[in-house]
Amino acid sequence: MYYETSKNDHGLPHNPFKAIVAPRPIGWISTIDKEGRPNLAPYSFFNGIGDTPPMVMFASTGFKDSAANIAETDEFVCNMASYDLRDAMNISSAPLEHGVSEFERAGLEMAPSKLVKAPRVAAAYTALECKHLKTVRMQDLEGNDTQSWVTFGQVVAVHIDDSVLVDGLLDLTKVRPLARLGYKDYSVVDELFQMSRPAV
Ligand SMILES: Cc1cc2nc3c(=O)[nH]c(=O)nc-3n(C[C@H](O)[C@H](O)[C@H](O)COP(=O)(O)O)c2cc1C
Repeated sequence: MYYETSKNDHGLPHNPFKAIVAPRPIGWISTIDKEGRPNLAPYSFFNGIGDTPPMVMFASTGFKDSAANIAETDEFVCNMASYDLRDAMNISSAPLEHGVSEFERAGLEMAPSKLVKAPRVAAAYTALECKHLKTVRMQDLEGNDTQSWVTFGQVVAVHIDDSVLVDGLLDLTKVRPLARLGYKDYSVVDELFQMSRPAV
C-alpha cells in the first residue's frame, strides 16, 4: 500500500507512522520548574544526536511541562526507561496538573543529580544530566508553525548503576531497555548480536 501524508488517506484503522519509526528509545525526562517543583514524563520522540560532545533531543507534541520547564531552567535529566520500570514509566505519563509530581504519583524515589538541579529517577540504571542548548518549534513545508517543539541538550554528566557494568561494558541484557513501537506496543531489548564494520 501507499499513501500521501498530505491526504492522510491510508485507510487503515490507525495511523501507521509511529509503528514504522520503531523501535524508539524512551527518554524519561526529569526537570524542575522555576519554583523548584519536580516533573517527570516519558518521551519516545527522543534520541542521541551526536557523541562529541554527547547531545540528545526530544520532541514535545504541544509545549508540555517538560519543554516549558527546560525553557525556564535550562536543565534536565534523561533517565532511560527499562522493562522493570515500565509501569512507573507509564503512570508518569499521566497528564497531571502543573506542579504535581509524577515521581510521587508513580511511587518513584528521586536521587540528586550532580551538575543540574533536576532530580534523577533513583531506580533508573542510567541517567544523562543535560544542559539546554536550544528549543526549536518546527515549521512544516508551507512554513506554518507545527505543534512539534524539539528540545536539544548537551549531556554534561552520566550515571550508570554499577550492577549493569560487566567487564567495563554496559550490559544491556541486564538493563533491558524499553522501546516504544506503534499503537499500544512496546518491546524490550534482551537479546544482542554483534557485527564488525567492514574494512575499507
Ligand atoms: C512511552 C511514552 C512515550 C511518549 N512519548 C511522547 C513524545 O515523544 N512526545 C510527546 O509530546 N508526548 C509523549 N508522550 C506523552 C507524554 O509523556 C505525556 O503527554 C505527559 O503527560 C507529558 O508530561 P509533561 O507535561 O509533564 O511534560 C509519551 C507517553 C508515553 C507513555
